[in-house]
Amino acid sequence: DSIINREAKEHVAREIAATAKDGDVIGAGSGSTVYLTLFELSRRIREEHLHIEVIPASQEISMSCIQLGIPQTTLWNKRPNWTFDGADEVDPQQNLIKGRGGAMFKEKLLIRSSRKTFIIIDPSKRVNQLGSKFPIPVEVFPDSLTYVEHELQRLGASEIVLRPAHGKDGPIFTENGNFILDTRFNYIDSSLEEQLKAITGVIESGLFIGYDIEVIVAE
Ligand code: A5P
Repeated sequence: DSIINREAKEHVAREIAATAKDGDVIGAGSGSTVYLTLFELSRRIREEHLHIEVIPASQEISMSCIQLGIPQTTLWNKRPNWTFDGADEVDPQQNLIKGRGGAMFKEKLLIRSSRKTFIIIDPSKRVNQLGSKFPIPVEVFPDSLTYVEHELQRLGASEIVLRPAHGKDGPIFTENGNFILDTRFNYIDSSLEEQLKAITGVIESGLFIGYDIEVIVAE
């Protein structure tokens, strides 16, 4: 992040954290913007003695909560009053690509379970057409890999890449024990999210089309 970028994100992080009320249950997605917002939340929890619980979308964010002293709960226990998250791409209709961090299944679950969702981005995430920069990540049950690849080709995927692991050989495994296929399509229409989900073996995709969210641009 450039310094200006970071200051803009910190500003929005403070604004979002300021909306938290005593007793709130808050869903937290992943990424640097989420971390900055958690940092501000932890400050408010300490200074104002607020009772707030966070439901994290990933182990990474769960560990951040522990580090920051933020109490956590799960979707089994509570429903989030609201959720905040980042995104990798946002189009003019507020459709999203997420999943750079591989946590889009739980992120989608949090957004679906929440009454309200804020998506915090910096201006570089805005695109006219989804897929301009980022591929669409698709989480795939390992045994179904070849079948899903074949079905993705049938849907018109122009590129399908099994996401490699960092620092070790072989593919990345999600927290759910699955693979990620990073896929490119020449044309992304409003039905693609449903078409991807309809493939047996696809757990979830990083396409978020037509969700009830509020996008906040840190600039
Ligand atoms: C995680 O799976 C992604 O969807 C993140 O929301 C995204 O990568 C945002 O990260 P930054 O806030 O660091 O840009």
